[in-house]
Amino acid sequence: MDIKPKGFSYVKADYNYISYYKDGKWDEGVLREDNNITISSLSTALHYGQQCFEGLKAYRRKDGKVQLFRVEDNARRFMTSCERMVMPTIPVDVFVDAVKKVVLANESFVPEYGHNESLYIRPFMIGVGDNLGLRPSSQYIFSIVVSPVGSYFDGPASPVDMYVTELDRAAPNGTGHVKVGGNYAASLYPQLAARKNGFADCIFLDPKTHTKIEEVGAANFFGITREGKYITPKSPSILNSITNRSLKWLAKNVLEIEVIEDDIYLYDLYELAEAGACGTAAVITPIGTITYGNKKHVFPACIEMGPTIKRLYDLLTGIQYGDVEDPNGWITVL
Ligand code: PLP
Ligand code: COI
Repeated sequence: MDIKPKGFSYVKADYNYISYYKDGKWDEGVLREDNNITISSLSTALHYGQQCFEGLKAYRRKDGKVQLFRVEDNARRFMTSCERMVMPTIPVDVFVDAVKKVVLANESFVPEYGHNESLYIRPFMIGVGDNLGLRPSSQYIFSIVVSPVGSYFDGPASPVDMYVTELDRAAPNGTGHVKVGGNYAASLYPQLAARKNGFADCIFLDPKTHTKIEEVGAANFFGITREGKYITPKSPSILNSITNRSLKWLAKNVLEIEVIEDDIYLYDLYELAEAGACGTAAVITPIGTITYGNKKHVFPACIEMGPTIKRLYDLLTGIQYGDVEDPNGWITVL
């Protein structure tokens, strides 16, 4: 099948995976065609946000085979999110197995090689059952849906404009480090405001002092300093991005440039030659300008992707699509 994704919009594939947790145990889990779920109106996921999710991709290689990128790392982060939401965990091997099953069942929905497209995989868990008081449920659903996708931010990988919001997505000791819906619910309002004003997305500052860049609504933030070092913020309220971890590794071990995890103050932005947003959906999206209050910071690499980010982009996507040798056991060929 010749799949033509339209950016990051949902295209229903043939199968999804679903497994139910009841009486202290998970059932076998099955593939099914219907992507609707019938749940109690009293589900904790609906009222108290007891849920979490993941995002990863399957890539079509030049030889036609399909491969996954760092699926075990998504499985491990999913466990951390489940634990924080007081939900039963899914062992890494069960998670990986379920992802493989659903991708293989939808193999014809993995877009062809050569167009920067892929099959986005969205595992999630929700608290279900009849609950009224505020406490963790005793019943859960673990499901995986997939959709062919193109780029998350509009257009090719040319620099986008970002807007710094005064609102927070997560509290200092809250749930920012895990992938739970509440963080995203809090980011919808500032994201919409940014988009209405022509920006690609909003940038969140650290919730304690509102002086340092934390991350983008749907991706981590990183920069290349004028001295050529890779810099990215470290904070307990930032999502531990698997893409960012990969870029840090590639910067250090392949490009052999220094990697710093440090505060990035708004007033220090002039020290960056290049800036970018990185994540599964965003891949690497260069950032050309950052607007905060009535100030607009323009990065030197504002017309096209800067040279160091370009090298990282080519390495990362090369590994993901099978053109560059897997350096670290990151790839699972199906
Ligand atoms: N930060 C946020 C808020 C995200 O939603 C994502 C996307 O998953 C990321 C960062 C990037 O994480 P990853 O590289 O694991 O996809
Ligand atoms: C991802 O990159 O996988 C994400 O979850 C971001 C999401 C907001 C689309």
